[in-house]
Amino acid sequence: MKRPSEAQRDASPQAPRPFLKWAGGKGQLLEQLWPLLPAGPFAQYFEPFVGSAALFFALRPKSATLSDVNRELIDCYRAVKGHVDDVIAALEQHRYDEVRYYEVREQQPAALALAARAARTIYLNKTGYNGLYRVNRAGRFNVPFGRYTNPGFRSPESLENLRACARALRGARVCVRDFGEVVRHAKKGDFVYFDPPYVPLSDTSDFTLYVPGGFGPEEQARLATVVDALTGAGVVVMLSNSDTPMVRELYARYRIDTVTAARSINSRASRRGKVREVVVRNY
Ligand SMILES: C[S@@+](CC[C@H](N)C(=O)[O-])C[C@H]1O[C@@H](n2cnc3c(N)ncnc32)[C@H](O)[C@@H]1O
Repeated sequence: MKRPSEAQRDASPQAPRPFLKWAGGKGQLLEQLWPLLPAGPFAQYFEPFVGSAALFFALRPKSATLSDVNRELIDCYRAVKGHVDDVIAALEQHRYDEVRYYEVREQQPAALALAARAARTIYLNKTGYNGLYRVNRAGRFNVPFGRYTNPGFRSPESLENLRACARALRGARVCVRDFGEVVRHAKKGDFVYFDPPYVPLSDTSDFTLYVPGGFGPEEQARLATVVDALTGAGVVVMLSNSDTPMVRELYARYRIDTVTAARSINSRASRRGKVREVVVRNY
């Protein structure tokens, strides 16, 4: 991983960008997060709530472990990493059309080969309503069709970006894991960035709906315990969360900075506003 102080962020058109839209995606916050990053070098980078991996793609560390509990998401990274040409070929079969969208949505991911499964995830992400990822009680993706002038999931630029992402993923281990389990492998000299589902700002906020069972106060407290353990072991940790009393209390012993994000603050996309987030650091 490059030392951010030495290397300016590569914002050139060839630099990889997240190929999925993801709730809480850090793309728009990179500029504010950049000066808060620790000076490396680090043996290994961990991103245990990887989502769209915005920070990973900006940093492009040589050695990384990317994980999440969302299997469809992780399968997508595995496919792009190992079989990007097959993913592109499968994406080229997809069409932006409402009837087709619902047919693809009905497909069982497990019944598809890895590259086709990844292409399905990318297609649904780019053509579904608001780029949401939501499943029903049975674990089936249930986001309705989205209206776009041009969803661009197979434009030359997005396919080129997919190739750039595949190159960035070469040195990364990607796995389906709970955050607490994966960081057991982190050692002194490693850097972990936690970007968990956020503590809700209001009752209508849907940030906890990523996974069945959600990510409630107990999970937030468990995460704080993991941060304490890593700190004790000499691992460098940065964490994002919403700016709420609960978060400030959980991380009272650490350095806390704030950044401002333009976010949907509840499930209605029309209710967008500026939201303050905290960045917790143990360095
Ligand atoms: C705020 S998003 C991460 C956004 C990401 N940083 C980005 O730039 O797109 C939170 C992620 O945590 C994952 N998640 C929820 N519970 C988890 C758990 N117990 N362990 C690991 N990942 C979890 C969700 O699937 C979701 O992808």
